[in-house]
Amino acid sequence: MPGQFSTFQGKVAIVTGAAGGIGGASAAELARHGAQVLLVDNRADAVQHVADELVSDGLDVAAFAADVTVPEQVEAYVEHAVERFGRLDLFHNNAALEGPFQPVQDYDIDVFDRFVAVNVRGVFLGIRAVLPRLLAQDSGAIVNTSSIASWVGFGNLAAYTATKHAVAGFTRAVAAEIATTNVRINAVSPGVIETEFVKRIERAVAAPDDAAQGGGLFLPSIPKQRYGQPEEIATVVRFLLSDDASYVLGANWLADGGMQATG
Ligand SMILES: NC(=O)c1ccc[n+]([C@@H]2O[C@H](COP(=O)([O-])OP(=O)(O)OC[C@H]3O[C@@H](n4cnc5c(N)ncnc54)[C@H](O)[C@@H]3O)[C@@H](O)[C@H]2O)c1
Repeated sequence: MPGQFSTFQGKVAIVTGAAGGIGGASAAELARHGAQVLLVDNRADAVQHVADELVSDGLDVAAFAADVTVPEQVEAYVEHAVERFGRLDLFHNNAALEGPFQPVQDYDIDVFDRFVAVNVRGVFLGIRAVLPRLLAQDSGAIVNTSSIASWVGFGNLAAYTATKHAVAGFTRAVAAEIATTNVRINAVSPGVIETEFVKRIERAVAAPDDAAQGGGLFLPSIPKQRYGQPEEIATVVRFLLSDDASYVLGANWLADGGMQATG
């Protein structure tokens, strides 16, 4: 029974992209293990709805609307977490866009710039705003959401793949910078997880007469022969943020049903 654990009692967490599948599951997981959690997303109504559901389950969480690409809004979500809950310990830096499913030469430049901004600049701004506080108190942990697309190249997702390689690189470089402190940074690399993110890609590639709307598109490349659930990423995030992972630093932890190992 997760509610009986107190791994994060007295700790405060921020989760970005928390209106989405993985972020919502991560916020719930951290809160069920005792953390007070600020859920951040640029979809204000959606993130409020997710937070309301968790509050109705008796969890101590709040919602905050912010665009992770805007420095002032990033500073604002950090300030809000500290004002509301009194401190900051844990950060799941998770918001991202999937980008267009197209050959790279067909990418629209403005679209490319926008999702590089969310997936890379947003991750950078989050670390930049959170890390000084963690270093000042010499405790805390960060998990960036990377992807199986930081391990292998996905055709028609070239720019997304590049941004997730960037997140893995960011994680390793910052790990080197903070290695001698008591603050840790790692990444989690989900495989194909059943969220709107994947459903949007499947719908985009579905033939007009495809009743399943592209469902199962990625199944042939998954040894486990099923998509992952957001909760199966949330438990990895919880571990990486916990003191149980005290010697895990700069890792890019796969949870991909065997895709990378056998691909
Ligand atoms: N679903 C998968 O198969 C999969 C696989 C590998 C990695 N990932 C990664 O997992 C993370 C979460 O993805 P998900 O599957 O839950 O997708 P999702 O689309 O359900 O959630 C992403 C959330 O990020 C939010 N977001 C987007 N742009 C934002 C911005 N500028 N500011 C604030 N919030 C913003 C969206 O509103 C959304 O709620 C992403 O980093 C994604 O790249 C997902």
